[in-house]
Amino acid sequence: MKTVFSGIQPSGTLTLGNYLGAMKHFVAMQEENNCYFCIVDQHAITVPQDKIKLRQNIRSLAALYLATGIDPDQSTLFIQSEVPAHAQLGWMMQCISYIGELERMTQFKDKAEGKEAVSSALLTYPPLMAADILLYNTDIVPVGEDQKQHLELTRNLAERFNHKYNDIFTVPEVQIPKVGARIMSLQNPLKKMSKSDENQKAYISMLDDEKTIMKKMKSAVTDSENEIRFDREKKPGVSNLMSILSLCSGESLNSIEARFADKGYGYFKTAVGEAVVELLRPVQNRYDELRNSDELDRHLDLGAEKANKASFKTLKKAERAFGLGRNKR
Ligand code: AMP
Ligand code: TRP
Repeated sequence: MKTVFSGIQPSGTLTLGNYLGAMKHFVAMQEENNCYFCIVDQHAITVPQDKIKLRQNIRSLAALYLATGIDPDQSTLFIQSEVPAHAQLGWMMQCISYIGELERMTQFKDKAEGKEAVSSALLTYPPLMAADILLYNTDIVPVGEDQKQHLELTRNLAERFNHKYNDIFTVPEVQIPKVGARIMSLQNPLKKMSKSDENQKAYISMLDDEKTIMKKMKSAVTDSENEIRFDREKKPGVSNLMSILSLCSGESLNSIEARFADKGYGYFKTAVGEAVVELLRPVQNRYDELRNSDELDRHLDLGAEKANKASFKTLKKAERAFGLGRNKR
C-alpha cells in the first residue's frame, strides 16, 4: 500500500478546476492507498486573510472534501495548524533551502508581482509544503499542473537532506492527471481557472447554483469559428469546455466532437453547463448537510489525532539527524 498526500488552501470557495484537477482524483485513490488530505491553513496566511472568512473557509473546505466522497474511515482528513509538526519540520526545510531556488518558483513570482509588501513567507512557502509531504513518508502526491515545480523542489530538498544528514525521507513522486490538470479560466482560456480571480465570471465555484453556472458558461470566451474541435493552441476556449464536459460526463473528446459536429456554440455551452450542474448537485446537497454538523468536527478531531501520531515519528528523526535538542540521559 502506498502513502498519498495532498493539500488544498482554504482561501476562497473551491472552483471546478480544483475539483476536476485534484479532488476527483483524491477520491479515486483512497481505496488502494493510505491517504492524507490536508487543509493547509498555514499556507493560506502567506497572503493577508480576514480571520472570520478564513475560519469559514477552513470549515467549508473540510465539508467539501467529505461531500466529494473522501471517506474519513479510509483517509486521514485534517487541518494543518492542528498538527504542529508541519511548522516544525517546515523550519528545518527552510534551513536547507536556498533563497535563489525559492525565488525561481513561478507561483512566488506571480503572487509577488507588482506588490509592495510581500511577506517573506510567500517566498518560504515551498519548504513548508515539502514538510507537509515528507512528514508522512509520502510516495505519491496528486496535484494539478501548477504544483509541479513545488514538487520538484520537494524532491530536491528530500534528497539534499538525506544526503547531508541521514537517509530518512521517502522521495515522493508527483501525479498529474492526463486530462484536467489545468482547467482554464472561462474568460481568458490562456490563464488557469483560479478562485482568486477578480472576475467572478472566470471561474465556476463548486457552490455556484444552477442559474449562475449556466450564465457563466454562456458567457465563456471561445472564438469566431463556430466549430467544436479539440485544439488547445488554436482553440483554447472551446478545448477547455470540451475537457470540462468530458471530465464531468465521462464522454471521450472524440465522441464530443462527433456529437456536436453540426451544432453551434450556444447549444454546446448549454450542454457543458448542464453536465457541470449534474456533477455538482449531489456534492452541494451533501455539503449543506455537513457544513454545520458535529459530524464534521468529529472527523476533523480524529484526523488531527491520526496525523499527529503519524508525523511525530518523522519529526523526531529529522530533529535527531540535525542534532537539535539533547540526548536524554
Ligand atoms: P489551490 O487552490 O491552489 O490550493 O490548489 C489545490 C489543488 O487544485 C492543487 O492540486 C492544484 O494543482 C489544483 N488546481 C487548482 N486550480 C486548478 C485548475 N485550474 N485546474 C486544475 N487543477 C487545479
Ligand atoms: N501549494 C499547494 C497549492 O497551492 C497546496 C499544498 C500545500 C499542497 N501543501 C501541499 C499540495 C502538499 C500537495 C501537497 O495548491
